[in-house]
Amino acid sequence: MIEVKNLTKKYGRFTAVDDISFEVGSGQVVGFLGPNGAGKTSTLRVLTGYHPPTSGTATINGQDVFRDSLKARQSIGYMPENVPLYNDVRVKEYLSFRAHLKGLRGRDARNHVGEALEMCGLQHMRRKMIKTLSKGYRQRVGLADALINQPPLLVLDEPTNGLDPNQIRSIRKLIKRLGEKHTILVSTHILSEVEMVADHVVIIDSGKIKASDTPTNLIKNMRAAGRVELEIRGNQEEIEAHIISLPSVKKVIANPTTADWMSYSILCDSGTDSRERVAQLVQQRAWTIRSLHRHQPTLEEVFVELTRQD
Ligand SMILES: Nc1ncnc2c1ncn2[C@@H]1O[C@H](COP(=O)(O)OP(=O)(O)O)[C@@H](O)[C@H]1O
Ligand SMILES: [Mg+2]
Repeated sequence: MIEVKNLTKKYGRFTAVDDISFEVGSGQVVGFLGPNGAGKTSTLRVLTGYHPPTSGTATINGQDVFRDSLKARQSIGYMPENVPLYNDVRVKEYLSFRAHLKGLRGRDARNHVGEALEMCGLQHMRRKMIKTLSKGYRQRVGLADALINQPPLLVLDEPTNGLDPNQIRSIRKLIKRLGEKHTILVSTHILSEVEMVADHVVIIDSGKIKASDTPTNLIKNMRAAGRVELEIRGNQEEIEAHIISLPSVKKVIANPTTADWMSYSILCDSGTDSRERVAQLVQQRAWTIRSLHRHQPTLEEVFVELTRQD
């Protein structure tokens, strides 16, 4: 559906997107993840035909976004970062107007507007003036707009930006639902977002792709995958000395929890699981233990690991 090859976007001498390549298959929901200023919006603008690329190519369904811009754009519903909405019109009027701009007429236009309203949970808001809507509902209007010509591909630029946790949940649900019918490329700097909705994640930082994989694989391949957490009572020095001498244990970090309990993060070689050895040791030494578990890294840790500046 999307093929990006060696795409570079410069603003003057500044390189915002630096020779990136990735693909999005039909039916996939792909999270485009990166900190602020990473180059997400710049990439999406090239894909949606708003900017020409400086070099490299991007195609949508085989149509070059620059050379066959009009055709490529017909397959895309784009929700830009800051949805520009007219404030002094009603929701339905606005969407009808947008449908008209997108070349829809008569019954087709009415049907498409109706379906977009329905899909985005806006039916009961259709007569409201846009200026009276909450930010969450405005985002829905933006989404409905992107949906109107029923494009196979939706490109959504930070659709949950500036929303409160409840609004984020409902937009996320909506994206999941849209993912059943559409291919989606959704950018965000919020990790939990992507973990929940995406089949595939592309992590971008300083204009470069740092990783491209399924959320599960990204987490699996993380170094932190070999971390065990232990909560135990006893002499700290003795405990640390014994644990560090276990095979594949690299480091032991102690964090006091309450007066006599101590929790230890045990960092191990990647791909190893030291729980059994730790459990045996605890038994041998007759220490009092209250928890032992393997740390499950979150996508957030993968993200920080890949994009931190230090
Ligand atoms: N029109 C522009 N002119 C000059 N620099 C820009 C322009 N748009 C974005 N940039 C710069 O390009 C970099 C990437 O921006 P952007 O693509 O908006 O990142 P993101 O969407 O990931 O936050 C930033 O450093 C930003 O300041
Ligand atoms: Mg952006």
